[in-house]
Amino acid sequence: MRSLIDILELTTKELDELIAVAEDIIENPSKYSESCKGKKLATLFFEPSTRTRLSFEAAMYELGGNVLGFSEANSSSAAKGESVADTAKTISCYADIIAMRHPKEGAPLVASMNASIPVINAGDGGHNHPTQTLADLLTIKREKGSLSNYTIGFCGDLKFGRTVHSLIAALSRYENIKVVLISPEELKLPDYIKKDILVKNGIEFVETTDLDKVIGELDILYMTRVQRERFFNEADYIRLKDSYILTPKKMENAKPTLSVMHPLPRVNEISVAIDNDPRAAYFKQVLNGKYMRMALILKLLEVEVK
Ligand code: CP
Repeated sequence: MRSLIDILELTTKELDELIAVAEDIIENPSKYSESCKGKKLATLFFEPSTRTRLSFEAAMYELGGNVLGFSEANSSSAAKGESVADTAKTISCYADIIAMRHPKEGAPLVASMNASIPVINAGDGGHNHPTQTLADLLTIKREKGSLSNYTIGFCGDLKFGRTVHSLIAALSRYENIKVVLISPEELKLPDYIKKDILVKNGIEFVETTDLDKVIGELDILYMTRVQRERFFNEADYIRLKDSYILTPKKMENAKPTLSVMHPLPRVNEISVAIDNDPRAAYFKQVLNGKYMRMALILKLLEVEVK
């Protein structure tokens, strides 16, 4: 039995296989429509979510399975002090697979060590978000035709941005990726990720505070939200929240082939005027997330579809 806590638990071959299954689901949805009949997914969300929780639920329904769960800690017995370990043991009596989001880094790992069913990390604090990375990889593959050979800029909150941390780790598996890190000084990518992922894998990277200066070099621009919920000090959030706002004016200097990605939700860091720009890929990411979560559920439940 396998869980998915960190994207690096999947080999490059497995990532490519998941992408291939997701693309087959897109082409042949009816082939998969009863593949998880009789199976139950439990969505345990201790932190707010729209896309991740509902795309997991949509994924399981489209595989013919069922869903149970909760969408906030206060409606579970965590509010009475129940531990993550006991929650995981309990849910193992009711479901076949768990998707868990938690504000504390490491909580889904603790769940996986205590559950007798697979646990998927659906985002843990400022740490990791492997299934968003699966959505991002499918989007890059479909937008660019390949997961190798491009320059990707990450812009905004690179310190607490778990989607950025997981995607950088996954991209380290592919060839000829150049990374441009665009953030305020206070929200720079943590040193351990630079050292353990970028430097260790020989990935070329530069850091800058100036989006305008580098936008023209990028093939992909991965925007992120400055996350109010990760700040200890409201004044710091207010000072940093409008550091980068992507507008049609800024896009004039970008390549015509640029893909603009964002894990969403956005606040104001991408102007809504960009939504109709053909370079906007962020709502395609939302849909791709559902297909990749379908592929992942099939893999972890060891369901073979012929
Ligand atoms: N991208 C993402 O994780 O969105 P939600 O917080 O809405 O799930």
